Amino acid sequence: MTELFDAVDIIRTKRDKGTLSPEQIDWTVDAYTRGVIADEQMSALNMAILLNGMSRAEISRWTAAMIASGERMNFSSLRTPSGGVKATSDKHSTGGVGDKITLPLAPLVAVFGVAVPQLSGRGLGHTGGTLDKLESIPGWRADLSNEAMMAQLQDVGAVICAAGAGLAPADKKLYALRDVTGTVEAIPLIASSIMSKKIAEGTGSLVLDVKVGSGAFMKDATMARELAETMVALGKDAGVHTVALLTNMDTPLGLTAGNAIEVEESVEVLAGGGPEDVVELTVALAREMLAGAGIHDADPAAALKDGRAMDVWKRMIAAQGGDPDAALPVAKESEVIYAPADGVVVGLDALSVGVAAWRLGAGRARKEDVVQAGAGVRMHAKPGAMVRAGEPLMTLLTDTPERFERAKEALEHAVIIAPEGARPAQELILDRIS
Ligand code: URA
Repeated sequence: MTELFDAVDIIRTKRDKGTLSPEQIDWTVDAYTRGVIADEQMSALNMAILLNGMSRAEISRWTAAMIASGERMNFSSLRTPSGGVKATSDKHSTGGVGDKITLPLAPLVAVFGVAVPQLSGRGLGHTGGTLDKLESIPGWRADLSNEAMMAQLQDVGAVICAAGAGLAPADKKLYALRDVTGTVEAIPLIASSIMSKKIAEGTGSLVLDVKVGSGAFMKDATMARELAETMVALGKDAGVHTVALLTNMDTPLGLTAGNAIEVEESVEVLAGGGPEDVVELTVALAREMLAGAGIHDADPAAALKDGRAMDVWKRMIAAQGGDPDAALPVAKESEVIYAPADGVVVGLDALSVGVAAWRLGAGRARKEDVVQAGAGVRMHAKPGAMVRAGEPLMTLLTDTPERFERAKEALEHAVIIAPEGARPAQELILDRIS
């Protein structure tokens, strides 16, 4: 086959801050997926994009080309009880420490008759993966056929499962390359990577939780805002109702970072309790998802309190082979970290906690690593709490005690305690972009 363009010309154009034509973009994504553009050429192009950026039109076309590299799902056959087309809504988080929100959120939104097709991933590095957390539930399966997913969406209304290999295959290849070439942190590449998968998934509306802070991808609010605005524009271009919340990730969400312990905390939220910040964000995201699906008068907080969300959760877990009432795995070993002084906790660094949980065995360094279901960090004092010297600040959990030392190293400067009277001022939801 004669190729339409030459990869070196395309690299030079971006290197010299030029603009790629729609045809060049279509060819680049397709030729890379076919193996015509070599990894070293794509690496050079990715770096040129990271350094010189892309216009909105280029990003939009790049996203469309990634979507076209694979299949698109279609949920238009889902029906409401009265026979109408069921609305669909999905949420994507850019990833943070203790971020278990998808677990209570998907069943909560389904309570109101909106279908939630939540395609999720496994964790890599210090942020946990939703599928790793759910796999700590005995019997639960992440891999569903498209048919099984549709049947569950129709019957239960919510599904959290692994994305099939057919969805945006160009992104899978590109993301693996970016991971090893220092080109993950390019806004055009992150935005197109996330949005190509969400648009191909076929959801009618989408809420993005863009994290900002030490435990997030984007440490800086200006960059996070630009990423959110870019993704919202891409969603709208594709006809998907898209809203983004910018949320704080300087501090972990909730009181747990790990797998089974995060499921346990999610179940507390579904039982009408749980930590305030997890409840606040779950309810705020539920409201946005429901509004995106055209429902403005729902009361998601009430559905957490009265057990309706818990009912959907149990059915959702059981539909995927899990036993929602089974005991969760518990780590074999634990070690407590105590407060060194009296005072108020004014800082609890998300990245440090995430790295500690990861080192304890809750996360993986390479794709093929196996995670420990019971490993992680339980936090006993969040910012704002008064502590006395000698009181427990955190409990570290693992099956392999040789991991404690490195986890403690990660936590050396994680907690800041100030003299009594000091109060941290930290908003959880920083902004909304629509
Ligand atoms: N998540 C993705 O799916 N893609 C990125 O590029 C970054 C985070």
